Amino acid sequence: MKLRSVKGTADVLPEQQAAWRRVQDAAERVLGNAGAGQVTVPMFEYAEVFEKSVGESSDIVVQKEMYVFEDRGGRTLALRPEFTAGLMRAFAEHGMHTRPLPVKLWSLGPAFRAENVQRGRYRQFHQVDYEVVGTDSALADAEAVQLAYQLVTELGLRQHVVKLGSVGDPEDRAAYNAYLREALEPRRSELSEVSVERLRLNPMRVLDSKDEGDQRVIAELDRPLDRLGEASRAHFEQVRRYLDAWGVPYQVDPAIVRGLDYYRRTAFEVHYEGIGAQSAIGGGGRYDGLLKLLGGADLPAIGWALGVERLLDAMAEEGVLGTDKPGKRLFLVPLDDEAVAEAAELARRLRSKGRVEFAYQRRAPGKGLADADKRGATHAALRGGSERTRAVWELKDLASGEQRAVSEAELFALLESPA
Ligand code: HAM
Repeated sequence: MKLRSVKGTADVLPEQQAAWRRVQDAAERVLGNAGAGQVTVPMFEYAEVFEKSVGESSDIVVQKEMYVFEDRGGRTLALRPEFTAGLMRAFAEHGMHTRPLPVKLWSLGPAFRAENVQRGRYRQFHQVDYEVVGTDSALADAEAVQLAYQLVTELGLRQHVVKLGSVGDPEDRAAYNAYLREALEPRRSELSEVSVERLRLNPMRVLDSKDEGDQRVIAELDRPLDRLGEASRAHFEQVRRYLDAWGVPYQVDPAIVRGLDYYRRTAFEVHYEGIGAQSAIGGGGRYDGLLKLLGGADLPAIGWALGVERLLDAMAEEGVLGTDKPGKRLFLVPLDDEAVAEAAELARRLRSKGRVEFAYQRRAPGKGLADADKRGATHAALRGGSERTRAVWELKDLASGEQRAVSEAELFALLESPA
């Protein structure tokens, strides 16, 4: 039997790494320049960290998407389904509340959810995550949205849309949920099975249903944004004013409901049409209260995560994925047996300057050049008896066909010169 990768996981092959690196570099630049420090947290934690955070009505818990397992010591652990919970656990554990506030953190890495696999929905996926802890200012919300927008824009996307809404303060949510219960209970029979369950756990999540029957019912209802309390409405308007002033485009989405329970006030998503049903390339919002829930200080926070696979899919759709820009790549061709060891030895030294490969056996000139070409070299250098006598290598530029005898020093210089 041939072994295969687990469904919903993927390998990132050498030719795909450049695009991944672009995402990582852009994240580091954009978020680092905004004052965020990179944090690496473990890929698994006590399951409690996530169970407490994401909430009992989140898809992750309701649909049993968390990879929970018991280790040999009988501890109940879980692979991280997202970063926020682990980052807040780390924030509390390292007493980061004593650092100058707000503290901005970012992270990048894999996350795991046992989902129904489809385009854009995987069981191991990657997120770029950004969190700001220690300010309840609407300015931090606007800045977070702006940074997500900037990162996506810097990666070359043009067709993305920010959808901005508010889920209100906890008391607004409670009032809205009570309203929904009252409106929806008499119509239970018209709702899908999932929505009936959501109605029981967290009625607001019914709004997230893609079911047509559900949508017909929902269409007649007030949205969370129609029923915000005074304070959360003022906060929402303030976030909008900043974004307007900065020229960050967004659409108000009065019915935005996020899949995790910890949100309050600002909630937003970044969508990219054209990558299938899973069009959310990112999402986030404010989650005041979560840190305290995990045993940390009572500090407000806001953040977001972008899905790297969906970002790359969108970049491919938009034709901005780009390719690895090869610098100089040299291939050494030994024309006789003595030159094999010479090539290996020279390659070893030249590699302090750049990419150098060599043939592991004597090659005829034509075969050696073909090898160099196949391996993606930009230049080949050949060596046989006549070159040895003159202490040179015969250098060939594979693009122009130009050829000349060069010294070792010139090969070092070649690799050092800009592409
Ligand atoms: P989320 O909306 O669950 O939020 O995930 C954020 C992004 O991760 C999604 O928009 C999507 O691009 C990507 N994503 C999620 N699940 C999958 C999957 N199964 N396959 C591929 N991509 C996926 C969070 O995770 C929050 N922790 C964001 C946050 C940070 N809120 C505050 N701070």
